[in-house]
Amino acid sequence: MTGPPTGLTKPLAARAQHSAIPPFISMPWTRKHLIGIEELNRDEIETILGTAATIRHFLDRGAKKLGALRGKTVVNLFLEPSTRTRLAFETAAKRLGADVVSFDAAASSTTKGETLRDTAQNIQALGVDMMVVRHAAAGAALYLSQRLNIPVVNAGDGAHEHPSQALLDAYTIRERLTNLAGRKVCILGDILFSRVARSNIWLLTKLGAKVTVVGPSTLVPHWFVGLGVEVSHNLKAALADADVVMLLRIQHERQDSSHFPSLGEYTSMFGLNKTRASWLSPDAIIMHPGPINRGVEIDSDLADSDRSVILEQVTNGIAVRMAILYLCAGGDPEKVAQHVE
Ligand code: CP
Repeated sequence: MTGPPTGLTKPLAARAQHSAIPPFISMPWTRKHLIGIEELNRDEIETILGTAATIRHFLDRGAKKLGALRGKTVVNLFLEPSTRTRLAFETAAKRLGADVVSFDAAASSTTKGETLRDTAQNIQALGVDMMVVRHAAAGAALYLSQRLNIPVVNAGDGAHEHPSQALLDAYTIRERLTNLAGRKVCILGDILFSRVARSNIWLLTKLGAKVTVVGPSTLVPHWFVGLGVEVSHNLKAALADADVVMLLRIQHERQDSSHFPSLGEYTSMFGLNKTRASWLSPDAIIMHPGPINRGVEIDSDLADSDRSVILEQVTNGIAVRMAILYLCAGGDPEKVAQHVE
C-alpha cells in the first residue's frame, strides 16, 4: 500500500486512496462478546456486515494482512466437530496478525472429566486474548463469557445459535442479490434442531426479509411462527418465487429418536432436485451451511450448479469472521484501513 496524502489522517487518507470502499453507516461497537444474533440490533448487524465488506475490499486488492490483532493469541475451543467454522476462524485470526492455538478435544483433559469451565479458565490462564467456542450445549458460549475476562465468540452452541454462519449467509445474499429487505427466503430441512436456522431467522427478519421455514411437521413445528416466520409443510408453495432457498441437513447428532420414516422418504418429500428448483424465482440462489449430504437434502448436480453459492458462503466466512474478531477485540469499524499491511 502506498503512503497517505499529506494533510489527511491515516484512515481518511487510506479511504481516499480506496474510494471504492463499500459505504456503510457504522455504529460504535460496544460488545466484547458475540454470543448470538437474537440480542443484536439492526445497526450492530450492519456494522459487522459493513466492516466485513471493508475488510473484503482490502483483501480483494492484495492486502495480505490487517495487523489489528498482532501480538494477540486467539484460541479455538471446539468441543464439537467442525471443518468450515474452525478453519475460517483460524484463517481470519491469522489474517488479522494473531497467533492461533487450536484445542484438540479428543486429546484434552476433558476426556478425564475436566469441566468446560475449568478447561476454559485454564486456557485463559495461559495468556490467550480471545476465545472462539463451539459446544454441544446451548448456552455454553454465554456461560463462558460470564466467567472469563477475555472476549468469547460463539461458533455454535447446541441447537441455539451459530451467529457467524448467519452473518456470512446474509453477506452472501447481499453480494448476489444486492438487498435483503423484501426478499423471500425459504429455509428447508431440519429446523427444530438447527442453530443455523435460529440465527438466520433472527438475522433475516431483522433485516426485513420474509422467511418461510419448511419441512416435515416433526422437524418444523408450528411454534416457529412466534419468531416472525411463516411455517409450511408444502414444499411447492414454500419454494414458489423464493429468492433464496437455504438447505439444512438432518442433525442426527441432536435427535434422540427418528422424526421421519427413513432418509429416502425425507428425500422423496423434501429433497431439492431439478424439478423442485424450477419452482424458485428465476434468479434464486441455493445456499447450504455445510456439510452437505449429496443425494439427501440436495441433488449433487444442483449443489454444483451456477445457482449454488455454497462455496461463496465459505469464502465470505473469512471476511465476516475477521470483522467479528476485529470488533470484539475493540477495533473501530471506521479504522479498518489503518491496519492494512
Ligand atoms: N457450517 C458449519 O458450521 O460447518 P462446520 O460444522 O464444518 O464448521
